[in-house]
Amino acid sequence: MHPKRYLVTSALPYANGLKHVGHLAGAYIPADIYVRYLRAQQRDVVFVCGSDEHGTAIPIQAMKEGSTAQQIIDKYHQAMKEDFADLGISFDIYHRTSDPLHHETAQEFFTYLHERNELETKETEQYYDEASHTFLADRYIKGTCPHCKSDRAFGDQCESCGTALSPDELINPVSTISGNTPVKRKTTHWYLPLAKHEAFLREWILEQHKDDWRTSVVGQCKSWIDGGLQSRAVTRDLDWGIKVPMKDADGKVLYVWFDAPIGYISATKQWAIDQQKDWKPYWYDNDTQLVHFIGKDNIVFHCIIFPVMLKLHGNILPTNVPANEFLNLEGDKMSTSRNWKLEMRDFITDFVKKENGGDQCVDMLRYYLTQIAPESKDSEFTWKGFQDAVNNELVAVFGNFVNRTFVLMHKLCGGKVPVYHPDFEDNTDRQLRQDIQEAKVKVETAIEQYKFREALFEVIDLARKGNKYMQEKEPWIKVKTLQEDPSQQQSIDNCLHNCLQLTANLSILIHPFLPSTALKMCKMMKLVEKVLDWSNAGNLKLLSVGYSLREPQLLFRKIDDEEIEAQIQKLKSAAMQSSEQSTDQPVSTYLPLKPEISIDDFGKIDLRTGVILSAQKVPKADKLLQLEVDLGFEKRTILSGIAMHFSPEDIIGKQVIVVANLAPRKMRGIDSNGMILMAEDLNGTLHFASAGDVATGGWKVS
Ligand code: 2FM
Ligand code: ZN
Repeated sequence: MHPKRYLVTSALPYANGLKHVGHLAGAYIPADIYVRYLRAQQRDVVFVCGSDEHGTAIPIQAMKEGSTAQQIIDKYHQAMKEDFADLGISFDIYHRTSDPLHHETAQEFFTYLHERNELETKETEQYYDEASHTFLADRYIKGTCPHCKSDRAFGDQCESCGTALSPDELINPVSTISGNTPVKRKTTHWYLPLAKHEAFLREWILEQHKDDWRTSVVGQCKSWIDGGLQSRAVTRDLDWGIKVPMKDADGKVLYVWFDAPIGYISATKQWAIDQQKDWKPYWYDNDTQLVHFIGKDNIVFHCIIFPVMLKLHGNILPTNVPANEFLNLEGDKMSTSRNWKLEMRDFITDFVKKENGGDQCVDMLRYYLTQIAPESKDSEFTWKGFQDAVNNELVAVFGNFVNRTFVLMHKLCGGKVPVYHPDFEDNTDRQLRQDIQEAKVKVETAIEQYKFREALFEVIDLARKGNKYMQEKEPWIKVKTLQEDPSQQQSIDNCLHNCLQLTANLSILIHPFLPSTALKMCKMMKLVEKVLDWSNAGNLKLLSVGYSLREPQLLFRKIDDEEIEAQIQKLKSAAMQSSEQSTDQPVSTYLPLKPEISIDDFGKIDLRTGVILSAQKVPKADKLLQLEVDLGFEKRTILSGIAMHFSPEDIIGKQVIVVANLAPRKMRGIDSNGMILMAEDLNGTLHFASAGDVATGGWKVS
C-alpha cells in the first residue's frame, strides 16, 4: 500500500544569485522526476519550493551589487523562478520567505516552541563592530585561517582550504563592514537544545531508517550524533530577517536556517489557499510521505535540526531525505567566487532559447544531469560528456529507434498501426514484449527507491533492446522478398506493431525524465496526454490496429564539436577574468542598507547645527572625545567615538550637525546629550557631516 499523499520539497535556493547546474542536478531535477512519476501514478502529491530570502547572504550580495537587500531578493526570486520554469521543473508552488504568510508561520513556530519551554536562552560574547554598531554575523568577519594561514578565511569557513571555522578561531579578525578590528560584546540568544533529543534521533535515523535512507545521509547523521549534539542558536543579531516575536528582542531575527525549512510549510499553506484545499493533512497526517530533496551540505538541517523542530511542533517527520553529493565541472569544484560554473540561465540562453532545436535542449540537459546524478558520490559535468550522452544515447539510441519505427511504419505499413499476428510470433517477439513489461517494473522500483540514474538507464536500455530487435527482424530486407514469400508480411507487421507499442511505452516511461519529449511522441502517435498515465506502462495494446500516425519529428538534435569548444572557452575565459578581478579590485565595502523607515520615523529626528567649543580626550577610553557643543539655544556635552580620527585641538570651531533629541546616555560616567553626525568614506576615513551656511541652532528637515 502506498501512502495517502506525498509532500515533496526541493531545497529553497538563496535569492542571492543565479543557480548553476550543480544545484539543478542535486535538488531540483531528481525531485521533479519523482513528482512527475507520482502524478503519472495518480497519487496525491504537492511539490513545493521557493526562494530563501533571509540570512547574511542577502545583505552581502546587496553590498557587492551596491543595491538593497529588497532589490536583491526581488531580482533573484524572479530570475530563479523563471529559470526553473524554463527547465521544466514543475513546482506546484514557488513561494518566497519574504512573504508575510511565511513571516507569520515562522514566528508562530518559534512562539509555539518557546511557550512550551523547548528553547533555552544563553548569553554569549560575540564580535561587534563599533563603527557600524552591529554584531557581526560569521560571514562579516574576515581573518587569517588557523589551518592554512590564508587570509581568505571568514568567521564560518576558510575559502582557501574549506575548513569550517568559528569566528573565535580566526587570527586577526577584521570586520568586513568597516575594516576595523571587532570587539567582543555580550548578547543573548535563543537555542534549540539538540542534546535533549539524542535518543529520538538515534532511534529514528540510525535504527528505523538505517536501511532505506542513503548510506551517505545516515553516515553524516551518525557522525553528527556521535560527535555530541550541541545546542543551536535559532536567533541572530541582524537587521535582515524575520523579527523574533518576543519583547526585548529588538535587533534580533530568526536564524535563516530556523525560518527557511518552515518555508516548506508556508509554501504548502499558500498552495492550499490558491487551490482551496486543506494544507494541514500534508503536515500533520501520518499518512503523508514527506520527502526532502537537497544537496549534501544541507543534510544536518533536514535530518537533525528541522526534524527535531517538527517533532516538537507536532508535525510529521520526513520519510526520506535523498541528499545528493556534489557535481563538479570540467575537473574542478563549481564555484561562484571563482566563476567556475555553468549557470542554468547561461544554458537557457546558449541552447534553449536558440532557434532550430532549442526546445529539445531542455530534455537533453535533464537527460545528462540525471545520467551523471551524484547520487552516491561526487560526479562531474563535462561538455564532452554532455555531447556524448546526447549524440551517442539520446540521438543514436532513443531518437534513432523512434525515428526508424516511424519511417518504416510509413514505408512498409501505409502509415498505420499494422495487425499483430499471434500465430507468427517468435521468440524474439516474445522476448521484446516481456522486456517492455519488465522495464516498467524496473523503472518504477528504481524511482520509488530514489535511484533515478538507474531508472533512466532502464528506459534507455529498453530503447536499445528495441534497436536490437529491429536489427534482428530486418523488415527492410524482408520487404524485398515479399513476392517470393508473402508470409514475410506477417513478420514485418509483427515487427512494426511491436516497435510501435514499444514507442508508446517509451513515451510513458521517459515522461518523468524528459517531459517535453514524451509529449512530442504522443503528438506523433496522435495520443492524448492522458495516455502517459503510469498504469498504461507495460500495456501492449496502447495503439489500436489500423490507427494512422503522423510523420516522425526529430526528438533530439546532435551537439557539434564547435558548440562544445565554444562552451569550454567561455568557461575558461570567465574564470580567468574573475581571477584577474579578484587580484585587481578590493572587495567593495558598501554598508548594507538598513530596513526601510517611514517619513514619520524620520520626522522624529531633530537635527540641529552646532559649533564645537571645546574638545578633550576621555580618560581610559581610546575612542572617545568629550565635546562641548554650542547649539545656539544651549550648550551640550556630547561624547563622540572619533578620537582615533581627530586630535581635539584640530576640531575646535568646527561646525557640526547634531541629533539633538537623542536620549541622553552615560558613558564612562559622563552624560552624553546628543550625537554628532559623521560620514565615513570607503577608505574608512571620517568626515564631519556639513550643514553649509545654516546658522548655529537651525535645521529643518524637508
Ligand atoms: O543551502 C541553501 O541554498 C539553503 N538556502 C537551503 C535552504 S533549504 C530549506 F531549508 F529551506
Ligand atoms: Zn584555510
